[in-house]
Amino acid sequence: MANLSTRFFGLDLKSPIIAGSSSLTAKVDQIEKIANAGAGAVVLKSLFEEEIHLQFQAEMGARRELAADPEYLDYFDYVIKEESLKRYIQLITDAKKKVNIPVIASISCSSSSEWIQFARKIEEAGADALELNLFIIPSNESRSHAANENFYFDTVKKVMEVVNIPVTVKISHYFSNLAKVVCELSQIGVAGITLFNRFYSPDIDIKTEEVVTAEILSNGTEYVMPLRWTGILSSKAACPLAGTSGILKAETAIKFLLAGANAVQIATAIYSEGPEVIEKFNGEISRWMDEKGYQTIDEFKGKLCLKTKQIDAWERAQFMNYFGGFSY
Ligand SMILES: Cc1cc2nc3c(=O)[nH]c(=O)nc-3n(C[C@H](O)[C@H](O)[C@H](O)COP(=O)(O)O)c2cc1C
Repeated sequence: MANLSTRFFGLDLKSPIIAGSSSLTAKVDQIEKIANAGAGAVVLKSLFEEEIHLQFQAEMGARRELAADPEYLDYFDYVIKEESLKRYIQLITDAKKKVNIPVIASISCSSSSEWIQFARKIEEAGADALELNLFIIPSNESRSHAANENFYFDTVKKVMEVVNIPVTVKISHYFSNLAKVVCELSQIGVAGITLFNRFYSPDIDIKTEEVVTAEILSNGTEYVMPLRWTGILSSKAACPLAGTSGILKAETAIKFLLAGANAVQIATAIYSEGPEVIEKFNGEISRWMDEKGYQTIDEFKGKLCLKTKQIDAWERAQFMNYFGGFSY
């Protein structure tokens, strides 16, 4: 049988299929099922800065008489953060006891504040690596792209200063110069970059004329954008890349490896088919490798990336040559 081992998070993984952060990775029994199904690693549900702020605001709304007292506000802010952190530390400790695959903690940051200190406690709890889920929706027209980008670099650097475990970054595609940002991030010592997180998206209900939540799970075509950027960046980045979003089939995971990813992170496929889907992915990748005569992932990883083949399709934007004669 083919050898599926690879490296990501600065760690040796027995499979390139990583269970991405989601509510499925917030409970130890699910994490055990994911590990038993053959995942290379599991990324725990993120500790969310935004969620803690919302909880804080909700509590303050219910205690209006105290909301004007700055001392109480500080105290309450502290208590909520400590409680969230305590629960998270417990999850890391419990997961580490139950599974023998790497357990990766995740922090979702939209500002670089005291989360830096939380990173140290996460390391002490035994997490094997830390993934920073960094996001800014660049909707503020008066904020420069440099200010937005600095947030990413500042946060990553500050976290790396306080922890010794590998730190990886999961980002969106919302950058004015994505290639430059990814390459520069890869050069400051991160152990991996995951392209691209899929966020909550708004949609519109035309019946009620309201803004509603768009589909939470991915569809099977969303992978093409992260695949393109994996193909372009895998030979340029100074650290390993992983793909995520819309990887619903083993075939798609293989495409990412051919484009140069070291691994993929999946969530929707596990929601739709259960943790057993990981076993299916591993089996199908292994069979494909046997058919192609590959014994290790390194033998074909990046075979179709921009640098290896100079395939201009990775950088092409227009359809015209292909679809001049396209009709339904
Ligand atoms: C319900 C749900 C919850 C998620 N929660 C997190 C999270 O807490 N942190 C994070 O970095 N990504 C989170 N994600 C994103 C996934 O880890 C993954 O990157 C994304 O869904 C794309 O992969 P997929 O197409 O396989 O779902 C979540 C995804 C879903 C569907």
